[in-house]
Amino acid sequence: MGEEGSDFVKVLVIGSGGREHAMCWKIAQSEKVDSLFCAPGNGGISRIAKLVDIKAGDINGLLKFARSNSIDLTAVGPEVALVKGIVDSFQKEGLRIFGPSGRAAMLEGSKIFAKQTMKRWGVPTADFQVFSDHKDAEKYIEQSNFSLVVKADGLAAGKGVTVCRTKDEALCAVKEAMIDKIFGASGDNVLIEECLEGEEASIIVISDGEAVVPLATSQDHKRALDGDNGPNTGGMGAYSPAPVVTPELERRIMDEVIYPLVGGMAKDGIRYKGVLYAGIMVTDEGPKVLEFNVRFGDPETQAIFPRLKSDLVELMERAIDGDLKGITVSWDKRSCVCVVMASGGYPGKYEKEKEITGLDAAGKMKDIVVFHAATRQSRGRYMTSGGRVLGVTGLGDGIEAAIKNTYKAASKIKFDKMHFRKDIAKRALVMR
Ligand code: AMP
Ligand code: GLY
Repeated sequence: MGEEGSDFVKVLVIGSGGREHAMCWKIAQSEKVDSLFCAPGNGGISRIAKLVDIKAGDINGLLKFARSNSIDLTAVGPEVALVKGIVDSFQKEGLRIFGPSGRAAMLEGSKIFAKQTMKRWGVPTADFQVFSDHKDAEKYIEQSNFSLVVKADGLAAGKGVTVCRTKDEALCAVKEAMIDKIFGASGDNVLIEECLEGEEASIIVISDGEAVVPLATSQDHKRALDGDNGPNTGGMGAYSPAPVVTPELERRIMDEVIYPLVGGMAKDGIRYKGVLYAGIMVTDEGPKVLEFNVRFGDPETQAIFPRLKSDLVELMERAIDGDLKGITVSWDKRSCVCVVMASGGYPGKYEKEKEITGLDAAGKMKDIVVFHAATRQSRGRYMTSGGRVLGVTGLGDGIEAAIKNTYKAASKIKFDKMHFRKDIAKRALVMR
């Protein structure tokens, strides 16, 4: 961070997970920053930012804090605040904030809006139907003769998508969303789409509404257990770069997905500013979009930022100012791996308040950063406070070296019933 003074900025990061720790860690390295706040943050973040006890969804509280503390720049981690329109609220008060407007954030907030936007601008995606009445959805499922994916329209904490192998599974998913309302109003409308086959990849870019800069490629591991087995989670690890996204595939995704979407939305009167994360299925017919997120990925960000040599604050400022054109972003050529250490039982029921040991020993290792996702500091000790607790992150010359370095650091950390995957980034070795 730089010296205190008028040219330096006061930054507020919103959120409390591993992604937000990585954002704070990278922002704190900027020469432009003189003070850093995080709301609500976590135990690890408290070492580099002042924690502010306001929840990420409390837009009025955050607005009041930013106003009374003369915050110059706010960066938003989680989608909920973005979909609620935090960017519009801050802008109305003349406060600078990095992220898409509430209308633009509908790309993640409503899967139906995302599909209709893609259709209008010719962005490739699976064929789909929209239903607001469960009887119509059931009739459609009974008549269809291919595998289907049922999606609740609104936000569902990553749980609103069911890939169905049988008609019964699809009928059950419709019942849960539309009749049992397990996702609340997010399931009032559902999408039913064709099931795509292929390799999954993702691309994360920063957009200023016109110009777009891709970040380094990355891939996450969503399943709880080794070999991509077990239940879905928020992400058990990630690595960067991801060999599945070849330079040619990246170019195709930019040309066929990102530019038509950002350009099309601008023609619709929606300038997309902020992070855009496209989840893609690489099919025989080419890349097709599975979903959009309007924020940095978690834990992808933890594997991307240690490789980012450029100033993140400058990137965010230029995106806000519509000035990304011509920017060069430089990257560390080394590979980066992030292994998530989770509480026993996660993603199901788990216990909290377990003491974590070995953090200093791991953190002191060369080219290692331990990002905290759910910890709390208590009299100099760190306690677990959620399901995904830490993201142990390491760099290495090549993916093999990065894997070795990261797992060596992970082996130093302990807490009761801790579990983590032993095969993070192994897929990158197979794909080379
Ligand atoms: P989403 O939240 O839309 O990314 O969906 C979560 C996961 O469901 C994706 O990462 C894919 O693995 C899977 N998925 C979503 N849509 C489809 C589809 N049309 N065909 C096959 N798999 C899908
Ligand atoms: N790791 C997937 C996501 O952030 O949505």
